Amino acid sequence: MPAPDVTALLACPRCEVAVRQYPDSSFGCSGCGLKFPSLAGVPCLFAEPAATLAEWRQRLKFALEKLAHDAAALQAELQNPRLRPLTRERLTLLNQAFGNQARRLAELLAPLSLQGSQPTLATHLALQTRLPTDQGLTTYYPNIHRDWAWGDTENAESLKLVAGALGNGAAGNVLVLGAGAGRLAYDLHQQLPVDTTVALDFNPLLALVAARAVSGEGVELWEFPVAPRSIGDHAVLRALVAPAPVRDGFHLVLGDVLRPPFVPGSIDVVVTPWVVDILPEDFRHFAARVNGLLKPGGRWICFGSLAFGQPEAAGRYSLEEVLAIVMDSGFAEPDVREDEIPYMCSPASRHGRRELVVSIGATKEQAVPRPPRHRALPDWLVAGTQPVPLLPAFQLQAMTTRIYGFIMGLIDGRRSVADMAKLLADQRLMTREEAEPAIRTFLTKMYEDSQRPPGF
Ligand SMILES: C[S@@+](CC[C@H](N)C(=O)[O-])C[C@H]1O[C@@H](n2cnc3c(N)ncnc32)[C@H](O)[C@@H]1O
Repeated sequence: MPAPDVTALLACPRCEVAVRQYPDSSFGCSGCGLKFPSLAGVPCLFAEPAATLAEWRQRLKFALEKLAHDAAALQAELQNPRLRPLTRERLTLLNQAFGNQARRLAELLAPLSLQGSQPTLATHLALQTRLPTDQGLTTYYPNIHRDWAWGDTENAESLKLVAGALGNGAAGNVLVLGAGAGRLAYDLHQQLPVDTTVALDFNPLLALVAARAVSGEGVELWEFPVAPRSIGDHAVLRALVAPAPVRDGFHLVLGDVLRPPFVPGSIDVVVTPWVVDILPEDFRHFAARVNGLLKPGGRWICFGSLAFGQPEAAGRYSLEEVLAIVMDSGFAEPDVREDEIPYMCSPASRHGRRELVVSIGATKEQAVPRPPRHRALPDWLVAGTQPVPLLPAFQLQAMTTRIYGFIMGLIDGRRSVADMAKLLADQRLMTREEAEPAIRTFLTKMYEDSQRPPGF
């Protein structure tokens, strides 16, 4: 029997009308007419696809510039004739790896550059689709290697726990939100009797690695371990490929978890692995969002850590609060278990963790009111016509920036910390007593930052 068509599950993230597929395989909204481009066959179902892809393009550019900068710094160090041979060997390896990695990333993400149209900032802001600034292209880079190159230990443990939390309810379709490089979604699809699995993430590097890996074609990228075990482990070229090509019915989608491009009430199982606690949205709203995606009787598997990073303490929920919120969000009392599993243990690194992960399995009992639309930015920024609020953090930042700007301007290769403190006091920015330690603290930080090794 052919696998069911994924199109029936997709909805426009902007107007929520059904998405249709055109004869050339591209997708578009049958309501507002928005066209969704695809990257190497992965549809980009963002509410503002051009703007979001432009942001990722910028982040790719940044990652490539950083690699070029780090390679140039190594090249300069390699000019030192007094380097030990082993040190030279290590730096040469890293230098070659940085250059080669840049070419590999540019090649893998070339489809991103083809999506050329530049949206206006105003459109992007108005649609509230801006990407979080803390999400770079390589933020979850080690996950790629864990998924497809480090062997089965970690992946098998996660699969066992998620499949266990699913119980006998594994049938129909599965949606993995924040799927990363896709291994868990792939394993679920390969191992469970499901028709369709959709793996959604908003990061094109992760999605394109997933696409190559699950197809069986694979892709090679460098791993730069946190704590290399030997010289050769400082940069390791890894073949990222699935154990076998994925069977029919597996789909990768680029989209935003907070504007999930799916028909409400169409999903049998939603899996959220290692994601609920890194979202900028309050977990109460997110739980209601998951409820809205599920069919009656559908199952939500929430897996990973619960290390919420919300700015306000009230949003940094404990396990007890999470379970209470799940039940308040239309789910029956969840099954919960906690297990210690290995986490991010690269064979090339001395660094690796054990994490006490939570697996929560909850069945949808009733629908709940829809959560408000996620707003990435406040209205005064979006509309641009309201006063910019004088937040205490802004006041502090304004003062700090003035002082830092002033100090940076004083660095001329001749002035001492004491000279600078006197000038700061003369300008009445601080008293002389405050100025000297403040300058020393600031310059210490600047100096330490300049001594940090580059990271990928
Ligand atoms: C901690 S990682 C976990 C990835 C994967 N589940 C794993 O276990 O390796 C969080 C993932 O969520 C994705 N993500 C974060 N915010 C997202 C959003 N608003 N929409 C889609 N994906 C998002 C990130 O790109 C990343 O892949």
